Parts: sequence; C-alpha cells; structure tokens
Amino acid sequence: MENRSIALDGPAGAGKSTLSKRAAKHFGIIYVDTGALYRCVGLYALRRGVDSRDEPNVTKLLPEISLEMKYDNDGIQRMLLNGEDVTDEIRIPEASKYASDVSAMKSVRAFLLSMQREMAVKYDTIMDGRDIGTVVLPDAGLKIFITAEPKKRAYRRYLELLEKDPGTKLEDVEAAMLSRDKNDSEREAAPLKAADDAVILDTTELNLEESFEALCNLITERFFRHEPQVKEESKLQVL
Ligand code: DC
Repeated sequence: MENRSIALDGPAGAGKSTLSKRAAKHFGIIYVDTGALYRCVGLYALRRGVDSRDEPNVTKLLPEISLEMKYDNDGIQRMLLNGEDVTDEIRIPEASKYASDVSAMKSVRAFLLSMQREMAVKYDTIMDGRDIGTVVLPDAGLKIFITAEPKKRAYRRYLELLEKDPGTKLEDVEAAMLSRDKNDSEREAAPLKAADDAVILDTTELNLEESFEALCNLITERFFRHEPQVKEESKLQVL
C-alpha cells in the first residue's frame, strides 16, 4: 500500500507545527510533533538536575521515562511524561535548550525512534521534526523541508513567546534560535538536513495563509491528484 505519511522537517521557527496542525485538520490525518518527545526527555533531565550535555547520565535516566501521546477533541497532541501532562511545560525556553542538547545523543534518538515509526504505521500522519525524511520515515510518501531566513524565523518565534511572556526580548530569542540551529545541524547523530528527495518550501516571503496554501498544494498534488472531482453540474443533475 502507498505510504501516505508526510515528513515535514526544518529548523525552529520555520512554521512546521502551525502549518502541520492546520494541514492535519484539513486533510483528516494525524499530526505528530516529534520535537515534543525530545522536549519531554529534556524536561525530565532538567527536573532531575542532570546537565543537558551529560550523555552518560541522561542515558541512565531513559529507563525511568515513559511517554504517551494523546489527542484531545481538537486533534491537539498532548504529551504525558510518566503520566503527567507536560504539554505546556515543555515549551519553556529552558526545555528548548535541553531538548536540543539531549537530541544530539544517539541513545536518546534510539529511545524515541520506534515510538515515532509506530505512529506512522498506525495512522496517516504529517510528522514534523528534523530527521523525519532522512531517518524516521525514509519511505514517507511526501517529504518537505520547510525553511525561512533566520531573522524571519526568530521574529515569528518572538511573537509567539511574547504572548506568554511580555518581557520576551527579540535579541534573546534570536541568539537562542541560532545556537539551537547550530546544535541541530552540526551534530553527528541525525543532523537537521533536507532529504535528497525532499521538496524545499521557503516561507521567508510568505505569510501564514500563503505558506498554508503552498503546503496544501504539495499534499494535494502528491496524494489527491487522481481523485475524481465532483462537478457542480453533475451534483445538480443528481438533485
Ligand atoms: O521542533 P522543536 O523545536 O519542538 O524540537 C525541539 C528540539 O528537539 C530541537 O532543538 C531539535 C530536536 N529534535 C530533533 O532532534 N529531531 C526531531 N525529529 C525533532 C526535534
């Protein structure tokens, strides 16, 4: 059977999660935010007081971690870490830094791999991350690498964070994002990069609606192109 999974990779702030959520709703598929898994591992290490770069000790924590993804009525993914809903807490800036650091560890990547693959076996998914097209779902039916210029990405993330914390500073957001980009792209284990067969979608000059339209066009073109269109006249005849 054709693999209808969509792999959506790209750097932080490119619009992956906002666009994937909307696309999932639009096409009636499941959105899987894989960054949330790394964030949960990062949060656990942070809570246990283990340094985010201390690979042996982060690795030792893994058997204590149980993760579950749940979906609420709006299709929003909720993350349970050892039974506790940490969906909001994993978004704090410190958890972002921890997530980026622990995601460079091979042990952490191996720990999270099967969970991600199982989701794509069970459901038609749009899965966002850094290595979905290259490692997690190399046979995905559609691979998209979504990106935008760093300044633009930082500004978008800044606006997002500002809603939660009015004291947010653009320079801080930009510096943290650049450091995370560097970490994610230069690491040895599954670095952030476009798969050879990925379509590149650059949203620097696109607003949200335009980006969404571009994404929907790619999905429709790939998966729904051959489905018969119901014509207005034929509907009228039936009536
Ligand atoms: O998508 P995000 O910003 O929530 O991801 C948090 C961190 O997790 C990010 O810095 C890189 C890492 N990550 C990863 O290495 N591989 C993925 N598939 C998803 C996220």
